Amino acid sequence: MLSATGRDQAIWLTPIEVTTLHIPTYKLKSGYDMPILGLGTWPLNGEECTLAVSKALEMGYSHIDTADVYGNHIEVGKGLANFDRAGLFVTSKVGPEKLGHDALIATCERSLDELDLDYLDMYLLHWPNPDIPMEETFGALKQLHDGGKLRSIGVSNFIIERLAQAIEISELPICTNQVEFHPLLYQEELLQFCKEKGVPVTAYCPLGRTEALHNEVIGSIAEQYEKTPAQVCLRWLVQKGIIVIPKTRSEERMKQNMEIFDWELSAEAEQCIDNIPEEKRVVRLSIAEF
Ligand SMILES: NC(=O)c1ccc[n+]([C@@H]2O[C@H](COP(=O)([O-])OP(=O)(O)OC[C@H]3O[C@@H](n4cnc5c(N)ncnc54)[C@H](OP(=O)(O)O)[C@@H]3O)[C@@H](O)[C@H]2O)c1
Repeated sequence: MLSATGRDQAIWLTPIEVTTLHIPTYKLKSGYDMPILGLGTWPLNGEECTLAVSKALEMGYSHIDTADVYGNHIEVGKGLANFDRAGLFVTSKVGPEKLGHDALIATCERSLDELDLDYLDMYLLHWPNPDIPMEETFGALKQLHDGGKLRSIGVSNFIIERLAQAIEISELPICTNQVEFHPLLYQEELLQFCKEKGVPVTAYCPLGRTEALHNEVIGSIAEQYEKTPAQVCLRWLVQKGIIVIPKTRSEERMKQNMEIFDWELSAEAEQCIDNIPEEKRVVRLSIAEF
């Protein structure tokens, strides 16, 4: 069981079981368990990518995040190859220009070939596309799901209005909304909405691509807890019931990023991070557009 979210405000996602030595999982509405820590793989490629994936899996990660647009499916697939498929949780994403029925099916099938997998654990719409009807997109996802190629589906970079629309239209449960989320971008309203709808948030750029690591508040809390700034950022997120996918090419940092489940930030420390006034997006998102 996850001791990390032992406080009322943080247990809206029910932790079910530990599938690896250290990393707890959440039970998704699809019925599958999603590890709450994964390895991000952008912008890893080539042999370095394969090595990072296999090192992470060796040390107890099981959740790997990739996307069609990262161009690293083949290398990620090579990194997965020597591990038991049943113990892996692989997420990929389809880009916004491929959300029409036929394009989506073809993209997913190509991605599976590249990854050398029979199915994906999670498939996300990488960005919304207002020009393609969601009914068509979710119809294609349902077809892939019913054909055994997808276990769970989700969205990414969806603001509240779009997520509400997706929830209404999709016959399958929306199992995550992957968005930028870190101490310099506390998206409280979106988190609250997701919580109400039972859609887990996955934080991309959970370290703000290192920008959050240099924040003074994070630094002083890290010192107080004798943890690293990265661990403080990740712990703050998982304590809020958020899934995290930090990317690192370093074995040492992979290990460090895993060591966030046997200690807790106090309510005061969590609040201090909530109150960081700085607001910084590291990935461009135009609300007007999406
Ligand atoms: N859905 C989307 O639109 C979207 C957008 C962006 C990203 N993503 C996904 O989210 C993942 C994570 O986001 P991100 O890679 O952009 O940002 P991030 O995870 O916040 O930051 C990655 C950076 O942090 C460093 N780092 C990692 N662990 C560290 C530690 N313990 N101490 C110090 N530095 C550390 C890494 O350097 P080293 O590698 O040198 O350790 C790298 O420079 C991506 O890889 C991708 O899978 C999704």
